[in-house]
Amino acid sequence: MNSVKVTPKTLIDMKRNGRKIAMITAYDYPTARIVDQSGVDIILVGDSLGIFMHGLDDTKYVDLEDIVHHCRVVSRAAIRALTVGDMPFGTYLNEDIALINAARIIKEGGVDSVKLEGGREVVDIVHSLTRSGINVMGHIGFTPQRAIESSTFPVQGLESNAAEAIIEDAIELERAGAYALVLEFVSAEVSKIVSEELDIPVIGIGSGPYCDGQVLIFHDVVGLREGKSPAYAKKYIDLQEIVKDAVARYVKDVRDGLFPSRGNYLNMSEEEYMKLVNLLKKKLGEGKSYGLI
Ligand code: KIV
Repeated sequence: MNSVKVTPKTLIDMKRNGRKIAMITAYDYPTARIVDQSGVDIILVGDSLGIFMHGLDDTKYVDLEDIVHHCRVVSRAAIRALTVGDMPFGTYLNEDIALINAARIIKEGGVDSVKLEGGREVVDIVHSLTRSGINVMGHIGFTPQRAIESSTFPVQGLESNAAEAIIEDAIELERAGAYALVLEFVSAEVSKIVSEELDIPVIGIGSGPYCDGQVLIFHDVVGLREGKSPAYAKKYIDLQEIVKDAVARYVKDVRDGLFPSRGNYLNMSEEEYMKLVNLLKKKLGEGKSYGLI
């Protein structure tokens, strides 16, 4: 596989050439290494890590330290894919705060870009970040950080005025310098128009087939989500069942004395062992006997 690093320009070229972009989340080193080697174009260290890695029930509780920490390990593993660190809730309240925090994600986390949620209300912030040389991915449609109830996924843009607002947000974000856009739970009609209107790539989640690319949460793709998989996702393997079965077999082997077996441990040479037995006899008394194993 071609391991030339993906850049924002690569993504724009892919869009121009009609080549779909594949993006996925990863929050740790081994997962990032595997997805990078599987050919994904973008790895997102999403604030969804709060739910999938930390057992939280809302992404709002994720803080900057968490994101920086997970970005640092993911960026070490991502050789080819472009990496994106999510800006957590409350870390881009104004331009100054956003600059300081985005710079930390890039400098300490080592990722190639940041993502933040919101439309026209964050356009000045996006502009100020891009002017400072920070690559920014926008995120509109359903924005979990603003949702009151994040476990439901209401599709956005079903009604004409709301649809128009999403399209205007997208255009404004592109003007502000965003290099790509995530469209979450937007009607297929709106995501088609946005993808056609913008020069930058539009990456959909739950937004239909007309986007320039798709993003999914790793845990949904490999069957590691706790509970039922959402309808917008596609489960390619049930890793949870496979891992449970493997660990249960390990537990059984331990209980049955079948693990460890020859090959899982080392033996002393017979000569060194006999020397040890003699040493111990002197120390612990002749009565003791230690057999060969
Ligand atoms: O945090 C995340 O994983 C995301 C994706 C759903 C796009 O923002």
